[in-house]
Formats: sequence, C-alpha cells, structure tokens
Amino acid sequence: MKVSIVGITGYVGAELARLLGRRPDVELLEVVGRSAAGQPIGKVFPNLAPLKLTVAGELERMTEADVIFLALPHHASAETAAEILEKSPTTKVIDMSADFRLKDRATYEKWYGPHPAAYLLLEAVYGLPELYRDQINPQTRLIANPGCYPTCSTLGLAPALSSKLGKPFIEPDVIVDALSGTSGAGRGLKQNLHFSEMTESTAAYGLEGHRHLPEIAQTLTDVYGSPVDVIFTPHLVPLSRGMLATSYARLTDDFVATYKTQAEATQAVRQYYRDFYANDPFVVIVDESPYTKQVAGSNYIYICPTINLSSRRLVVVSALDNLTKGAGGEGVQNMNLLMGLPETTGLDMLGLYP
Ligand SMILES: NC(=O)c1ccc[n+]([C@@H]2O[C@H](COP(=O)([O-])OP(=O)(O)OC[C@H]3O[C@@H](n4cnc5c(N)ncnc54)[C@H](OP(=O)(O)O)[C@@H]3O)[C@@H](O)[C@H]2O)c1
Repeated sequence: MKVSIVGITGYVGAELARLLGRRPDVELLEVVGRSAAGQPIGKVFPNLAPLKLTVAGELERMTEADVIFLALPHHASAETAAEILEKSPTTKVIDMSADFRLKDRATYEKWYGPHPAAYLLLEAVYGLPELYRDQINPQTRLIANPGCYPTCSTLGLAPALSSKLGKPFIEPDVIVDALSGTSGAGRGLKQNLHFSEMTESTAAYGLEGHRHLPEIAQTLTDVYGSPVDVIFTPHLVPLSRGMLATSYARLTDDFVATYKTQAEATQAVRQYYRDFYANDPFVVIVDESPYTKQVAGSNYIYICPTINLSSRRLVVVSALDNLTKGAGGEGVQNMNLLMGLPETTGLDMLGLYP
C-alpha cells in the first residue's frame, strides 16, 4: 500500500517513518516537511538515513496514496485533511492532531479556536482501537488519532466505568496525574525544554485546564453512559520518551461491601481488567507499577490497577511511550484496521530495555 506522511520533520512524523519505513507491504510515497524540502531524510533525523528518502516540500501525489498521516499542529491538520478528502475521496486520512478528536464543535472551539473544517467532526472516528475497534474498518475515511495523555489515562480507567462485563465499580469522578517526557511537546525549540532548565527538575502545568481534559472526559463519559467529572494535571519530566499516568477514583459502595480484604479486591480487579482487555494485543495488565522504560519504543501500554479499601479508592498506574502507543504506533494500529490487516502488523516489537 502507498502511504504518505505530512510533518516528517517533527517527532511524530519521524516515529511513523521509523515504524513504516521497513515494512514490505508499505511504500512511503511522500514524506513532507516544509523546513527540509529537498533534503535527504537522514539529514533531518540521522536514525532514518537507511530509508534513503528525500523530504518533499508539499503533498503533491495525494490521489495516489491509500493512506496519508497528518503529523501537523492543529488547524494546519484540519485544513490539509479537508483538502485531501475533497480531492481524493478514496484516500484514508489519519490525523495525529487534536482537530477531529472532540465531537462537539463548541467544546473544540473553546480549547482550540475556530475549527477550519467542522463539517468533518461527525465523520471522524476516534482512533482508540481498544474502545472503538468496530468503527475502525475499511469503510472509515478519517481517523482522529487520540492524544497521548488521553490514551494513557482512559485505557487505565475505562474498565472500571464500563458495563461491558458487569456494573461500573467506581464513581464518575476521577483524578488523573500524568507525567510526560519532553518529546511530548514536539521538536520546536522552547526555553523550558532546554537541557539546563529541564534536567533534574519537574513541574505541573495546565493547572487551569489542559486541552486533553475534554478529550479524556468525552471518552470516559461515552464509556460510562453519563457525564464523568475529570481533574487532570499533566507534569513534564526529564525523559525524552515516556508517559506515566496515575489515576484515582472512589469505589462504589457495592464494590466495597463485596470484598473483605484489599488483596482479594485487588486480585479481582486485576482479573477483571485482564478479561476486559482479553482481545487487545497491546494492553498488558501488570501486578506492579510499570516503568516507562519497560514500554519504550513499543506499542504496548502496561496498566496496574490496585484497590485501596481503607480509602475506598481505585488507583491505576499506566505507562506507554508517548511517541509509539501515544502517537505513531497507535496511528499504525489504526492504519492496519483501516486496511483490513491484522492489527499487530509491524507493531509487535517489545520495549527497549534497559
Ligand atoms: N509529540 C507527541 O508525543 C504527540 C503525541 C500525540 C499527538 N501529537 C500531535 O501530533 C502532531 C505533531 O506533533 P509533533 O510532536 O511531531 O510536533 P513537532 O515535532 O513540532 O512537528 C510538527 C510538524 O508540523 C510541521 N508544521 C508546523 N507548522 C505547520 C504548518 N502551519 N503547516 C504545515 N506543517 C506545519 C512541522 O514541519 P515544518 O516546520 O518542516 O513545516 C513539523 O513537521 C501535533 O498535532 C501533536 O499535538 C504529538
């Protein structure tokens, strides 16, 4: 199949090329990046040199592509997606930005400003295969690939709010504290990301509200079936790749009344999570807090749910690589489903450890 990547000069575009560049069933048709037009890809990202590709300044062969990934900032992505879908209706677009993730236009515009192509919001499918796999199929044209924080936190909390295997066992009021490596902020130069300002230091941000908050709330509300309140606090930590979310929720009275000991409750919940994700090849339920390093460079998310009966809380720790399961890997997982391929094609690499 012919695949193009727009935004190859950014971290997500480069991750997509890393994952797709060696696949025998994929021809990288065009890799587009305005700031490096005409340059060999290895000049921009030396790790990609063996791919021997030349960066294009513009997307010129869109009608030849089966799939086009847009790894661009919001607004630029929506404009490009609208152009592709108009000029080449059979091409599938996987948008890595936030432009099509929020279903409600007013909510989008509150966080991101006027939407350049709002008419596509309802057509776009939210590309979180573990929860929306049945909507990601060869008929789908436009995928809104989830944010990294939303993938990490919603997969950690969804089983406890879902009625798929039984009754929800937490109240619809959750707290998510999440840590991200600096590649989550993209490749552009920013003062707070300088080595001397970032190393051996950390801080929270987005205390007044972060753009991923409505996305997390939208998915959890959808899973639960009525509104879920979310407090979400992101933190930047001195890692290049990696994301860890710790989520907290109050247990229902029914749940607390069912178990006599914390160990028994935790064991039951871990089994419940394993059953919930039994058909999801990239979700691994673990018995100890995961480390970000265990999933680095892989498309896996490791999730560790624990019950604290004395405080009547569920505590879930989840870890993924923000550029892989949090972006490019999830994008490729979506591409596989769109093209009718096994979901794991080209994605079965393990974490790079240590
Ligand atoms: N980084 C992550 O962990 C992560 C995770 C999930 C989702 N995302 C999302 O994925 C997208 C890309 O993120 P990133 O981290 O790769 O960002 P990045 O490193 O800053 O790269 C952005 C890319 O967009 C291009 N670009 C910038 N402004 C443009 C414009 N107005 N028109 C066309 N191209 C433009 C840049 O290329 P030129 O400067 O060469 O034009 C560059 O290739 C963003 O929407 C981001 O929110 C990122």
